[in-house]
Amino acid sequence: MTSQTLWEARKYEETFGKAIRKEERPKFHLSPRVGWMNDPNGFSWHDGKYHMFYQYHPYDSHWGPMHWGHAVSEDLLHWEYLPAALAPDEIYDRDGCFSGSALTLPDGRQLLMYTGVVKERQADGSCHEVQTQCLAVGDGTDYVKYENNPVLDERDVPEGGSRNDFRDPKMWREEDGSYRCVIGNRPADGSGQILLYASPDGFKWNYVKKLAENGNRFGKMWECPDFFPLDGKWVLLTSPQDMLPSGFEYHNGNGTLCLIGDYDKETQDFAEQSDQSIDYGIDFYAPQTVLTPDGRRVMIGWMQNWDTCNHRRVQEEPWFGQMSLPRELSIKNGRLYQKPVRELEQMRSGQVAYTDVTVSGLVKLEGVSGRRIDMELTVRPAEGCDLYRKFAVRFAQSESCYTSLSFRPAESVLKIDRKFSGSRRAIIHQRRSLVNHRAGELKLRIVLDRFSAEIFVNEGEQVLSAVLYTEQEADGISFIADGTVGVDVTKYDLV
Ligand code: FRU
Repeated sequence: MTSQTLWEARKYEETFGKAIRKEERPKFHLSPRVGWMNDPNGFSWHDGKYHMFYQYHPYDSHWGPMHWGHAVSEDLLHWEYLPAALAPDEIYDRDGCFSGSALTLPDGRQLLMYTGVVKERQADGSCHEVQTQCLAVGDGTDYVKYENNPVLDERDVPEGGSRNDFRDPKMWREEDGSYRCVIGNRPADGSGQILLYASPDGFKWNYVKKLAENGNRFGKMWECPDFFPLDGKWVLLTSPQDMLPSGFEYHNGNGTLCLIGDYDKETQDFAEQSDQSIDYGIDFYAPQTVLTPDGRRVMIGWMQNWDTCNHRRVQEEPWFGQMSLPRELSIKNGRLYQKPVRELEQMRSGQVAYTDVTVSGLVKLEGVSGRRIDMELTVRPAEGCDLYRKFAVRFAQSESCYTSLSFRPAESVLKIDRKFSGSRRAIIHQRRSLVNHRAGELKLRIVLDRFSAEIFVNEGEQVLSAVLYTEQEADGISFIADGTVGVDVTKYDLV
């Protein structure tokens, strides 16, 4: 039975979602059907399609009582909206259905696990959220909340763990048919930890152990964990709040963290070996992964950051928030690599290619422009020339606007800067990243959609993501060098 709250949300999104023209949305990045979107939820392969749910407030382009929006896709790039899947309509989730995950049960039904939120008034008048884990089961469109919800609550949190910060379960199925999930929690030291739970059937869950402890190393509370095997290692992804930057790694505010290590399935111990940011740009948070039927581990993040939500086209717009490109993950030399899913190549058309163009000062190339493009650049010192001081590419460019990506080889620093992208708000608009290069030789792949840029460095060694709201007519691209640079350029339109 659909509750009144869910029915109203479905009615509302159907009516007002239709009013948003296709051209007002990103072309191949998922945006909310209407209103506000944050974290990806329940990213899964079910019944022949990819499912993506998302943190959703249909009634407003700002965060509010959380629903789960829902969309499906066959190629991870073209999405079709389905009716909202969950609404905050039960006693145990009346103040929000927060983030969670999905899997397919052996009988073919889809199981969702999410965080139910209830605000509890304290004696001093303040309000605390109590967070528990809840289930819903469905056919891929309609879901029924489980009669024994919540399935995990404060009694399932280890000593010292908070019942106010206990959220974002990510489940998976083990080879023996049993289930595990990881959940973010705040321990007594005020930072974060990831808790591991197990279940024989997906419905009855038990606490196993602390899988990872922050100990105040990386920010405070750890949100939205994901844990999976990759190329012989195990990877723990999480999004820490209240980060302190450390060199060029981790920016302040809400960041992303990737821990790579070994996992012993017998003892269920995770031994961390290395840490890094997941994304080095401005807008990326709370990513979640899926295992594709052909065995690829693909990640999508919320291409936005809590600290920059005031960067908007206009204050009241019909939709706000979008997902990142789906990215294929791998591990090379102990680091996480990300590449746009190969399905993106099927959208390429109209190749324009140049080999070894000499750039000194400013250069524009015939046929190289556009706002929905996939462009590969190889940059190196021009033949017989000294190392250049700086190379930059400007895109989404008009008379008055552009966003730039600049590289200073002597410092090994790549910088994305959107302060001239048309924004009228004083918020962070740039980010620097240390990159590897061989004597000034660097590979870049720039994917632009209407409202975003994602930069893949050195075949995916690093990624920088940023949203931009520059008017669509600004489609110019130019190359600038201080010194003399040789550049190979291959550009495709994405259609
Ligand atoms: C992360 C997050 C999650 C929570 C959700 C609420 O962006 O804070 O921890 O479940 O957003 O919308």
